[in-house]
Amino acid sequence: MSGRNLLYLASGGPTPVLNASASAVLQRAREARAASAASRTQLQLPKRILAARDGLIGLRSGELLDTDVLSDAEVLQLAHTPGAVFGTCRTMVAEAPRARARELAGILQVLRRYDIGSVILSGGNGSMDTALQLHRGALEAGWPLAVVGVPKTIDNDIVLTDCSPGFGSAAKYVAASTLEIAHEVAAIANSSTRIYVLEVMGRHAGWLAAASALARREPGDAPHVLLMPEAPVAPAALLQRVERQVASKGWAVVVVAEGARTTDGRRWSELRSELRSEFAGRHRGKHQQLGGAAPVLADWLGRRLKRKARWSVLDYLQRASRHLASQVDFELAIQAGRLAVEAALAGHGGVMVGVRRVAAEQLQAVHWRPWLLPLARVANLEKHLPQRYLLADGMGVSAACLRYLRPLIQGEAYPPYRDGVPDYLPSGRQFPLA
Ligand code: F6P
Repeated sequence: MSGRNLLYLASGGPTPVLNASASAVLQRAREARAASAASRTQLQLPKRILAARDGLIGLRSGELLDTDVLSDAEVLQLAHTPGAVFGTCRTMVAEAPRARARELAGILQVLRRYDIGSVILSGGNGSMDTALQLHRGALEAGWPLAVVGVPKTIDNDIVLTDCSPGFGSAAKYVAASTLEIAHEVAAIANSSTRIYVLEVMGRHAGWLAAASALARREPGDAPHVLLMPEAPVAPAALLQRVERQVASKGWAVVVVAEGARTTDGRRWSELRSELRSEFAGRHRGKHQQLGGAAPVLADWLGRRLKRKARWSVLDYLQRASRHLASQVDFELAIQAGRLAVEAALAGHGGVMVGVRRVAAEQLQAVHWRPWLLPLARVANLEKHLPQRYLLADGMGVSAACLRYLRPLIQGEAYPPYRDGVPDYLPSGRQFPLA
């Protein structure tokens, strides 16, 4: 390998354990560097461990950061800190062939300038396309570069891997929040709120909404209705269902995925055009901002059923909820980061680290085996809830779905606390340019 340095970059929205993978990348790369220094080989790999400021933005502009300013203790602290320590972005490599070629040529110059031989990119399905383009661009230019993807998304929509680090922790937060909301509403329903609408993220996939059903201990427990992108529901059917629930039990909890739609193709946020939420319909390039269904739905259900309705949108809280991270998820994030470095240093480029589930009777015995998937097989593809995970009326999930989800939220990877709040690395830390 001609390039001797390693570059880490993040892409897309953070997750509660994105920095756990980043920490694992830095730790494993430092170990490899120490080992190669100790073995006195002439080629010390990797000599420098760099990171791109705000992901692709920094890679384009040549703003590479020196990660060695983080002490080993800080790298450990990073593992339990939310966000994306070196920044991340929503930018992708240009689509138009000419613009793409120009952009990749510029990036290649940066990679050569910094003698980069390994790139570890942490991202979702769109970001895996960025990784793939880097891999192909370097191949065409004759620059030996090992690009390895680390899956990361709370949406759980990357194909061919059993799950994506980040999802298990967000799912745990969604399930715990649903459970807590249920207690709250049950307590006050007799004289106040009878309908509660909770909105979760997930883009075009309903995995997070499905995870809210993990809150249920007994049949009939909340959440009572789920609205997921994979199962459009008629507004009249929803109304009837919520009315029945309120009539029989006195209150109802509805969980809506930001990407869910009615049977006539509208987003729930568009249910009453005169009540369009302030969130609805904002666009930023290809990445349309979703969200805003809960306030509209709560208002609509409340007026129609003449009941008090409240709502909340979990929004970034579910991406940043590191204080409630799942131990299983945390470990998968660490494993993916470490393996990515090992694969890159061994020269295996153009791949993403995936996991395969090894099923077991006992929840705690379920485990995952890593494998390397060609980037070309995952880039830009979306994994949705399969039909067998949905109930016939589309407003709930099956036992098979819960069996898939439950192992992912096992265990608590609590961060240490200081003065009553989690002891995270400071947010927005600036790093010197390399
Ligand atoms: O990271 C994925 C995701 O959480 C989606 O579920 C959501 O639609 C999107 O990010 C929101 O991202 P942004 O921060 O760009 O608004």
